[in-house]
Amino acid sequence: QNSFKTRAVKQSSASAIGLRPKISASFNVAILGASGGIGQPLSLLIKMSPLVSGLHLYDIANVKGVAADLSHCNTPSEVLHFTGPDQLAAALKGVNVVVIPAGVPRKPGMTRDDLFNMNAGIVKNLVEAVADNCPGAFIHIISNPVNSTVPIAAEVLKAKGVYDPKKLFGVTTLDVVRANTFVAEKKNLKLIDVDVPVVGGHAGITILPLLSKTKPSVSFTDKEVEELTVRIQNAGTEVVEAKAGAGSATLSMAYAAARFVESSLRALDGDTDVYECAYVQSEVNELPFFASRIKLGKRGIEAFVNSDLQGLTDYESNALEALKPELKASIEKGIAFANKSK
Ligand code: NAD
Ligand code: LMR
Repeated sequence: QNSFKTRAVKQSSASAIGLRPKISASFNVAILGASGGIGQPLSLLIKMSPLVSGLHLYDIANVKGVAADLSHCNTPSEVLHFTGPDQLAAALKGVNVVVIPAGVPRKPGMTRDDLFNMNAGIVKNLVEAVADNCPGAFIHIISNPVNSTVPIAAEVLKAKGVYDPKKLFGVTTLDVVRANTFVAEKKNLKLIDVDVPVVGGHAGITILPLLSKTKPSVSFTDKEVEELTVRIQNAGTEVVEAKAGAGSATLSMAYAAARFVESSLRALDGDTDVYECAYVQSEVNELPFFASRIKLGKRGIEAFVNSDLQGLTDYESNALEALKPELKASIEKGIAFANKSK
């Protein structure tokens, strides 16, 4: 009975002083493509963040219902919805982080590059609006082919005179999430402890997990390295084939994108210990864009973690050299598209 009394007292004093979840900061996040397969679960996960005060959902269709649904969750952020190009500027005003999962997903038999013709223009138009309305925001590009859409975004921002390479990110977190999961399964490790850096790009052989840098330190046979690397590189295709025409990864992608958003918000909030892999304008090698581990801070990329790329195994060094021509071609394709359609 005593413990019941104590609980009742605690509850009433909490409501008497208006106790609500503590919000340590308040950031606005916009999701462009919010009613899609990734957009919906991603919106839900971001709605759960204590760091978010405003969640701006934008799509060309069906976003009003998604927003009505989400707005009933009793978490701090206010959910606003915006439909179609006329409302895009309003969706972006005052936003700190913009996430772009707008565009078409793969079907079996397609490469990510097969999406270029559909998605390049979508990303270009959306990033133009970002440049005009929230040029200081962190921009997270999910739309494929990421190896080309990020260089397109960079060119658009340059043409608008607002390019800050420290704030433009291709989201490759899903590659890290997959690598961590597959390595933990294979080596019977506790999932929460495993961290595998994944570098390069986000398509086929350009996805390069650096298994020798796995934490906690673990040894692999040559066969394990080959099998794990190929599985991580083909994991997107594994999902595309399992979904058999109904799209590509959405739930695991939303989980990964939410992790990258949360890391960005923590960095914006002043946390000085935030590291993620992402595909960014890079200085770690001769390629102008490259995914590797970066340190995030209030102003975006604060540093590149070069140590991941030092002391690679022969397998990793060879794979790194082998991916460069494909990644370079994808970057050049994106830049050419952006400049042609100026
Ligand atoms: P989807 O078709 O389910 O959803 C896409 C959404 O984008 C739709 O709601 C659509 O209305 C919207 N959209 C289309 N044009 C738009 C525009 N101009 N402005 C705003 N919204 C627009 O697709 P999905 O499964 O959510 O995948 C989206 C993209 O993410 C695809 O290109 C896919 O290849 C990519 N993807 C990337 C990763 C990654 O790791 N980076 C992982 C999975 C999927
Ligand atoms: C993924 O890695 O799951 C995405 O890039 C989607 C795809 O087409 O594979």
